[in-house]
Amino acid sequence: MVRMRNAKGSNATEIEKKIKRGNALRQGSAWRGYRGPIAFLLVAVCGCSAAVWMYMNSLDGDITETLVRHRELISPHPRVYTVHCSEDYDNQKRYPGCTPQKCGRAVTDGVVTREEAQILRRLAERGLALAGSEGGASILDLHSGALSMGKQFVNIYRYFGDQISDVFTEEDFKLYRDVRGRIQAVIAETFGLDPTLLYLTKPTFFSRINSTAAKTQHDEYWHPHIDKVTYGSFDYTSLLYLSDYGSDFTGGRFIFMDQSGNRTVEPRAGRVSFFSSGSENLHRVEKVSWGTRYAITVSFTCDPAHAISDPTLS
Ligand SMILES: *[C@@H]1O[C@H](CO)[C@@H](O)[C@H](O)[C@H]1NC(C)=O
Ligand SMILES: *[C@@H]1O[C@H](CO)[C@@H](O)[C@H](O)[C@H]1NC(C)=O
Repeated sequence: MVRMRNAKGSNATEIEKKIKRGNALRQGSAWRGYRGPIAFLLVAVCGCSAAVWMYMNSLDGDITETLVRHRELISPHPRVYTVHCSEDYDNQKRYPGCTPQKCGRAVTDGVVTREEAQILRRLAERGLALAGSEGGASILDLHSGALSMGKQFVNIYRYFGDQISDVFTEEDFKLYRDVRGRIQAVIAETFGLDPTLLYLTKPTFFSRINSTAAKTQHDEYWHPHIDKVTYGSFDYTSLLYLSDYGSDFTGGRFIFMDQSGNRTVEPRAGRVSFFSSGSENLHRVEKVSWGTRYAITVSFTCDPAHAISDPTLS
């Protein structure tokens, strides 16, 4: 009885082993059968993700970090990001109390109100309505009088003469001067400068950008550049935004292009963004994809020989 049970038992285990082996073989062959399609699927999924990723990047760069979002309110103190100064300033005469010793970028919503931004935007709209570029980017420079017209520029003061006082009021110009003074003061305070040793320089201008394709090089605002290289006299650059990212336009974000990644600022009406103008602040503007983006570029120099004066109506 005992032996029989044993024999039966050993038999049973033999059979169990066979069944298990059979199962294992079947499973193995089942896997072998799936291996091809699974590998194909994996390759397809990876390939698709890579294509999507490359497509997203080709749309407008790999934006890595947002420094300031549209919905944030940076007030009363600017949000400051320091960066190491480039050597650009060593190749020029140094102006103590002005030449950057501390470099960086900052953003504030506490210098210009949204109401003031709206008044300045209307001023820009009226001025730019006199002409405008055929491409998507137009400028109006109240200092030199330059206004985009078709593929070129005209001088509004010469071209429109006395009519210009129907377009702009003395009050508009007063606000413009006042705002530029406040921007100068916040730059001086942030970078530890003497505000009286900082001078407005050219070009200082309004810009209006929409998604219409560029017709000339003047319309190609999106190329990466360094202000000090493009315009030798610049030491500090500022931008006053007059419209809102996301509701007035899409695209059009400001991008600092650092070695370690791209850092963006989302425009907001009344927001002032400013930075030292050297190679430490290589930047570009993302292409506007919808709507109209208004801003003022306000530029400063430490070199009194490159100073320009505020615009007046008479
Ligand atoms: C861009 O602005 C110009 C000038 O106002 C206008 O003629 C053009 O239709 C606008 N383009 C788009 C896409 O809205
Ligand atoms: C920043 O964006 C540009 C395109 O705008 C891209 O070519 C570059 O690789 C990006 N930089 C980094 C470090 O991701």
